[in-house]
Amino acid sequence: MTQDELKTLVGQAALQYVVPGEIIGVGTGSTVNKFIDALATMKDQIKGAVSSSVASTERLLALGIPVFDANEVGELAVYVDGADEIDGQGHMVKGGGAALTREKIVAAQSRQFVCIADASKKVEALGAFPLPVEVIPMASARITRQFQALGGTATLRLKDGAPLVTDNGQHILDVRGLHITDPLAFESEVNQWPGVVTVGVFAHQKAQVCLLGTEQGVLTLT
Ligand code: 5RP
Repeated sequence: MTQDELKTLVGQAALQYVVPGEIIGVGTGSTVNKFIDALATMKDQIKGAVSSSVASTERLLALGIPVFDANEVGELAVYVDGADEIDGQGHMVKGGGAALTREKIVAAQSRQFVCIADASKKVEALGAFPLPVEVIPMASARITRQFQALGGTATLRLKDGAPLVTDNGQHILDVRGLHITDPLAFESEVNQWPGVVTVGVFAHQKAQVCLLGTEQGVLTLT
């Protein structure tokens, strides 16, 4: 099976976690796009979605799924999103699609995080994928030096030759060379550096369930 087919498989499998009559938390990325397409087949059974990015909002609306502002609604039953890396405890690295801040907000508003990923995303320890960090632009040089002190090399993410601007109007640093042995402590530490909007380690908002697409089918990791 191709990676794209594995993404379709887990996107469809996530429908079993959709609670009829509820508003669904929806993440961002190519795997989530498969979930959104699957969700459209049962759009009459849900109230709508809270979205984690402009891109997902546009896709949801185009398929006729109403999108609510996070402030208009209370706790969500479930949040479905992808990951760039996930370990055996459900800790993740996210933000490859630059949507990490809104993803963490919607995850925090949800009772259950269901991660959908193809098998290539499963790792023993986080850190091989360059860690995305959303930063306030005036702090990026100092934050780069702070990562250097931890042994990491941070580079500003570019789009069309210019710094990528997130949905929140900020920049992304991608940090290579980190070994994240204690995801909870690492997330807490980096998140309190001045100028860091969100670090792409999701340990406080970890996945309770991971639907992993493999050649053998969908594995459910809890
Ligand atoms: C976006 C994310 C995505 O969930 C992550 O990058 C995985 O994306 P894909 O499903 O395209 O591999 O965190 O900010």
